[in-house]
Amino acid sequence: MTGKISINGARLRADLEALGRIGAVPGGGVSRTSFSAADAQARAWYRARCAEAGLRLEVDGIGNMFVSAPDEPEEFAARPAVWSGSHIDTVPNGGRFDGALGALAALECVRRLHEEKVPLARPVRAVVYSDEEGNYAHLLGSSALVRGFTRAELEALTGRDGDRFVDTFVTAGWDLERATRTRVDPGRVHATVELHIEQGPQLERLGHQIGVVTAIVGLGGGSVTFHGRADHAGTTPMTMRSDALVGASALIVQLPEIARSVSDRAVITAGIISVAPGGANVVPETATFSLDFRDLEQARVEELARAITAAAHEVAQRYGLRVDVDLGPSIPPCQLDSRIQRIIADAAAARGLLASHLPSGAGHDSQNLARLAPTGMIFVPSVDGRSHCPEESTAWDDVENGANVLLDTIVALAGS
Ligand code: GLV
Ligand code: MN
Ligand code: MN
Repeated sequence: MTGKISINGARLRADLEALGRIGAVPGGGVSRTSFSAADAQARAWYRARCAEAGLRLEVDGIGNMFVSAPDEPEEFAARPAVWSGSHIDTVPNGGRFDGALGALAALECVRRLHEEKVPLARPVRAVVYSDEEGNYAHLLGSSALVRGFTRAELEALTGRDGDRFVDTFVTAGWDLERATRTRVDPGRVHATVELHIEQGPQLERLGHQIGVVTAIVGLGGGSVTFHGRADHAGTTPMTMRSDALVGASALIVQLPEIARSVSDRAVITAGIISVAPGGANVVPETATFSLDFRDLEQARVEELARAITAAAHEVAQRYGLRVDVDLGPSIPPCQLDSRIQRIIADAAAARGLLASHLPSGAGHDSQNLARLAPTGMIFVPSVDGRSHCPEESTAWDDVENGANVLLDTIVALAGS
């Protein structure tokens, strides 16, 4: 290679704008939850971009997509590869950059390396991971790669809309048996790097263009269900009720205090709530809400789980209810690779960009991939620190800077 190459900023912008139109909803948001019709449309669009660029696309059993140059000799293609990617699913009414930026910037990097025939010592793969946002399970695709899922585990997954994962998956034409066989041999991966929007306010406050991510939070989650008794809303005196929603509400208002009692970084969110039988004139018999809790230390994630469970039982007793606390396995926090952090910081400096080190409060597939191979993440600023909402935005200059730092990092990792 004679000099440093750069990404094509106009092409990356056009791609981000085009993908942002798939699943767009009134009000400026994007609803492209995994395995929805919009997700299928986005996958087809991505496949067409790869074909247009003359790249090879392979899809594994859980729907992760892997892109490579078409002309790699067999011996070269068999070497441990550098992976870069993110996700193209979104939360309901989410934004245009979360996941899309890292997925499309990685595609742009592979496209540029292929166009320029950059000589590399090992292959590079652009990757799109399935269901990062957890319509069915948070980080589903990368979890399948690192630990696999049994058929029973997949059968137990339900979506935000109450549908069963296996029904939606099979109806959409996917093969359940193949999904259970999805795993990757760690020896296949040399290193991974993901570009992402920060989704918080730090870089913007500092006036820095690049974030070198040091660590990613651990995530716990599940659901809490209070069981009471359905009764007539007009005739049942307040003293004779077992109102499940009153119990759920009493616990939900305690969550901020529980988080504070564990650490000043701990967060707990109840983002979905449902009540049955769901009549305006019926005392709620059951009330279920989702839980998402996070901290940078695994011991504190476990402490959050214990504190929420204890509080749920105390509330149930206070209101004469029964409660089930159903917590799934947590995803551990991780430290990102220090050598890759140095490569990212050097790449930013070489392009004259200001960079700072910071941890990620959002979950990312990179925390699973860090169990396979040395892993790094690059952040770019989020306007007003907003994300998971229609207002989510990143300046186009920041998009281009981040993608160029990604390209330099990939070349450093794959070049020697
Ligand atoms: C992913 O966006 C998450 O942190 O929930
Ligand atoms: Mn994301
Ligand atoms: Mn997200």
